[in-house]
Amino acid sequence: MTGLRAPGDLLFCRLVAEPGELAIHHRIRHQIFVGEQQLFPESDVDAHDAREDVLHVLGWCGEVPAGTVRLYPLDAGGSSWQGDRLAVLPEFRAAGLGTPLVRFAVATAGRLGGVSMLAHVQVANERFFTRLGWTRQGDVELYVGRLHLLMTIALPTCTEPAVGQEGSTGLGCQRGGDPVQRRTPGVRKPDLGQ
Ligand SMILES: CC(C)(COP(=O)(O)OP(=O)(O)OC[C@H]1O[C@@H](n2cnc3c(N)ncnc32)[C@H](O)[C@@H]1OP(=O)(O)O)[C@@H](O)C(=O)NCCC(=O)NCCS
Repeated sequence: MTGLRAPGDLLFCRLVAEPGELAIHHRIRHQIFVGEQQLFPESDVDAHDAREDVLHVLGWCGEVPAGTVRLYPLDAGGSSWQGDRLAVLPEFRAAGLGTPLVRFAVATAGRLGGVSMLAHVQVANERFFTRLGWTRQGDVELYVGRLHLLMTIALPTCTEPAVGQEGSTGLGCQRGGDPVQRRTPGVRKPDLGQ
């Protein structure tokens, strides 16, 4: 898959739907952040993963789960959000999945009333985020022992109809899936209603 751009309709993102998908989400994160990047010696799971209000996302390339992102509010009012654990399996990189994963996180936090999102971005990924509308804040920082940049983005007020419905442009919400429409019953999460 590397080097090939997958057709947009093959790529979609959605919240994990059941424990099996959550396990896959964690397996991908472990492969990238513990195995490939060695950011964490044993596990990248932290206290945020156990929060009631954390949202775990899987990015799919067709039937294959190939990427992750995680998001959660930073304040009680839910205005400021953090996105992290963005990862795409090596064999799926540059297929266009990282982009909708970031956009899905942004759109989802926006739908939940968020105003801004921040991310601690690895220096090598600054351009990737800049191209998606993120802005660097300040100097290089040490985060989980590596050089990162604090980057932020204003969250959209996402009033678009769901992707696939008439009139939808897909906007920055995400490609090929809607955070509301694709939420699967059984996942106890904050109200994702319109
Ligand atoms: C960073 C990452 C998520 C990008 O995912 P991806 O699926 O390869 O990204 P996309 O295919 O959507 O890339 C979209 C565009 O950004 C470019 N791009 C990807 N990574 C980039 C980077 N680090 N710097 C600059 N451009 C980048 C792609 O080449 C593509 O360009 P194009 O539209 O001109 O073809 C992926 O490389 C990854 O998982 N890396 C390891 C984990 C990691 O670093 N996570 C982020 C921590 S901050």
